[in-house]
Amino acid sequence: MLKVLVVDDDAGLRMTVKNTLSTIDYFDIDEAFDGVNALEKVQANQYNIVILDVDMPRMSGLEALKKIKQHDPSIIVLILTAYSNVNDAIEAVKNGAYNYISKPIKQEDLVEIVDNALSAHKMVADVAASAPILNMDEGKKIIGNTSQMKKVFNIIDRLSKVNTPVLVRGASGTGKELVARAIHANSSFKDGKFVAINCSAIPENLFESELFGHEKGAFTGADQRKIGKFQYAEGGTLFLDEVGDMPQLMQVKLLRVLQEKVFVPVGSNREIQTNVRVVAATNRPLEKMITDGSFREDLYYRLNVMPIFLPSLDERKGDILNLTNTFIRRFNKKQDMKITGVSSQVRKLFENYDWPGNIRELENIIEHAFILEDTGTIQIRSLPESFLIKSGIELSDPIMSDNDMGSVVSQKTDNVDTVTTIDRKTTFSFSTEKLDFSSQKETFEKEFIISALKKFNGRINQTALHANIPKKTLLRKIEKYGIVAKDYANK
Ligand SMILES: Nc1ncnc2c1ncn2[C@@H]1O[C@H](COP(=O)(O)OP(=O)(O)OP(=O)(O)O)[C@@H](O)[C@H]1O
Ligand SMILES: [Mg+2]
Repeated sequence: MLKVLVVDDDAGLRMTVKNTLSTIDYFDIDEAFDGVNALEKVQANQYNIVILDVDMPRMSGLEALKKIKQHDPSIIVLILTAYSNVNDAIEAVKNGAYNYISKPIKQEDLVEIVDNALSAHKMVADVAASAPILNMDEGKKIIGNTSQMKKVFNIIDRLSKVNTPVLVRGASGTGKELVARAIHANSSFKDGKFVAINCSAIPENLFESELFGHEKGAFTGADQRKIGKFQYAEGGTLFLDEVGDMPQLMQVKLLRVLQEKVFVPVGSNREIQTNVRVVAATNRPLEKMITDGSFREDLYYRLNVMPIFLPSLDERKGDILNLTNTFIRRFNKKQDMKITGVSSQVRKLFENYDWPGNIRELENIIEHAFILEDTGTIQIRSLPESFLIKSGIELSDPIMSDNDMGSVVSQKTDNVDTVTTIDRKTTFSFSTEKLDFSSQKETFEKEFIISALKKFNGRINQTALHANIPKKTLLRKIEKYGIVAKDYANK
């Protein structure tokens, strides 16, 4: 767990920062009340991030910053500074602060800056863990900071240095093609072409010609000589996507090419030498297909020298935020827009979702949101209906018409998130511990109603009106959840 030190002489502000941080990640958070106290703590503990006020008694933040950096330059320091005092901020960044946050603190800014700081921290940690740096075209980088993905990077790196065929396994949308491209781009074949062929999309009778080409007149309709994909990819990489769908006869022929490095075009009697790296991919259960006879065991062993298994997104939730931000940056560039991120609500939904369509699904959801938003953060209402339904948000939910969802602020007690209200915005929370749709939905509804009642002093009519819930529905839910509206009068 990352350790954070929040330094400010104002206890209320320390609390605000702490609450907001608890929505981003699980941090181990300490507090210090001024620069001297901060320095004592930094010397006694190993912090990853220090959030430091500038204007404090005894020792100023700028002085403390210099001392902290002298003690351990790898600590990420974020400076809190009055809006008007930009000079301090510049001075701080010159002295090694990672960034600054203006007071009064906007939660979104804090979340964004800490997120970026975390990415920077992870990058440094990754390099330290010596994950290989893979060459990829701009816009085609493989994102992944989780241990599962580091393993994948290491295998890609090793496979790039040898010539063996590769089999990439993984569910739909987990990045199989991207990994194939990464292997190509880092291999000795990188100056050749990357040629992709989808085995499930080629009619059986044209398969052989597609792979190996044909001579003129080889079969009816072959009125010209045609070069096959193997020749086309000569010196490069041939990506056989959905290899599990390759017809049996072609499986035999492919095995021969892999073993002997020669093939014969259809209608020819000439063997052609080939020097092509073959990368195959599938999401089919090849082992089961071998037992029922639809996939050849010998080809399986030839391809499966060093398989790469791509984890599903559900298994590496730690990468969701990073992927989300990457896609946002990409779409901003492509569509000339200025989306800054996702709201805390959206982030929670993303973390609680099981992502059956994996990364492609996440990418599509972000693209969908770009149609409806053009600035600011992506809100729940801009997510596709199908995703919201699967996430347990009803389209009639008041949250759908709320213009500013605010940020989730929760205090964790016994693994249950409790609700706090900040800046008069209504806030909600979802438990990340228990992924059960109906109980999550009920928690959400109950929390929403209590927050709304608090805001309108327990007055049913006003709550119904402003929270956009029909009065009858509100009364029914109040009864269902055993809420006593009067309890929230003048609170
Ligand atoms: N780790 C990653 N980092 C960034 N983008 C990724 C990553 N993995 C996948 N993507 C993106 O997600 C989309 C789906 O990836 P890709 O086409 O490689 O998946 P696939 O496993 O081949 O899917 P399918 O089984 O449906 O063919 C692509 O747009 C790809 O660029
Ligand atoms: Mg694919």
